[in-house]
Amino acid sequence: MIRLLCVAGARPNFMKMAPLVRALRSDPDFLPLLIHTGQHYDEQMSGRFFDELGLPAPARNLAVGSGSHARQTAEIMTRFEPVVLEEKPRAVLVAGDVNSTLACALVASKLQVPVVHVEAGLRSFDRGMPEEINRIVTDAISDLLLVSEETGLANLRNEGVPEERVCFVGNLMIDSLFFHLERARQRDILSRLGVEGERYGLLTLHRPANVDEPARLMEMLGALEMISRELPLLFPAHPRTRARLDALAWSAPGVRLLEPLGYLDFLCLMSRSAAVLTDSGGIQEETTALGIPCLTLRENTERPITIDQGTNRLAGTSRQSILETWREASARPKTGRVPPLWDGHAAERCHAALRRFYDLETG
Ligand code: UD1
Repeated sequence: MIRLLCVAGARPNFMKMAPLVRALRSDPDFLPLLIHTGQHYDEQMSGRFFDELGLPAPARNLAVGSGSHARQTAEIMTRFEPVVLEEKPRAVLVAGDVNSTLACALVASKLQVPVVHVEAGLRSFDRGMPEEINRIVTDAISDLLLVSEETGLANLRNEGVPEERVCFVGNLMIDSLFFHLERARQRDILSRLGVEGERYGLLTLHRPANVDEPARLMEMLGALEMISRELPLLFPAHPRTRARLDALAWSAPGVRLLEPLGYLDFLCLMSRSAAVLTDSGGIQEETTALGIPCLTLRENTERPITIDQGTNRLAGTSRQSILETWREASARPKTGRVPPLWDGHAAERCHAALRRFYDLETG
């Protein structure tokens, strides 16, 4: 059996790892072991995602918790190294662009264990984003790079990554979305919130560049407050954001702050919303797959296919650009289409790529 360590550490990792672990567990040639770094640790940010996504209990939880980038990354590395030495995996699988991704890829690579990167090749070309550094470094030391959208192929080619290491598999996050959508739509979150039958928008914000600087945050909130006069907004706030909002004692009549939601409740609210405003990466993809208009509250995106083919619009972060984009989106809603290989079968293609990687027959 080929032992694989599958790393999940922060909220957006869980929906990518779940379908992949499920596919690998169905194959007797593989033994996938889930490693939780504990980068996210609250029940709201981590625990309940395991139940909802059907993830197995982690074989190990490194319980690293929060810290500065250096401290968190170093702590993950320190705690992950002995696990790799004990478990002797044939590969370490990492997903996305969070600190856990980079830290575990570095450890594996230095121990000469192959690194498989899920969601490889995405680039915002903005090195001010910690995630961009994590993506670049992880891709540079990965042995198998599994790509979610076609721009990833071009980016890796431009960086000189040999073609034979790269495989276009599609989007694992969309596997989870399609797998759980029907169940999510049955949830009673709308009636619990008392918004059944009402038009609403869904808002999320958590990027340090957007929320850590009060002046920037207030500028964005000013625009969002204006929008909420036309479309009431539901705002499940990340703990980082909630702390900043509390410090500013901010509130607006049209914006309803909520605790972070579980996967199914969030999916339910998203799928029934009139529009989504967000600075998240994954939500840009999910709204494109669902055909829901999305305004991305950032200056750039590493997921340009959601703009070229999907329902996403880059709204920037100034009051003026957000309001202009909002007006344009209201006047001319984008319909968009679902990008290639965002079909709910990415995990099967990842699985096949792994079988080829180990020279196993593929069906
Ligand atoms: C991380 C990822 C980001 C991803 C986001 C999703 C990196 C560099 N960033 O950012 O790419 O989009 O996760 O949420 O890895 N906190 C809690 N409970 C938790 C986790 C965090 O209260 O379970 C609070 C802590 O105060 C912590 C802060 O949130 O200091 C930030 O957490 P951290 O893991 O450093 O990064 P995120 O902002 O969540």
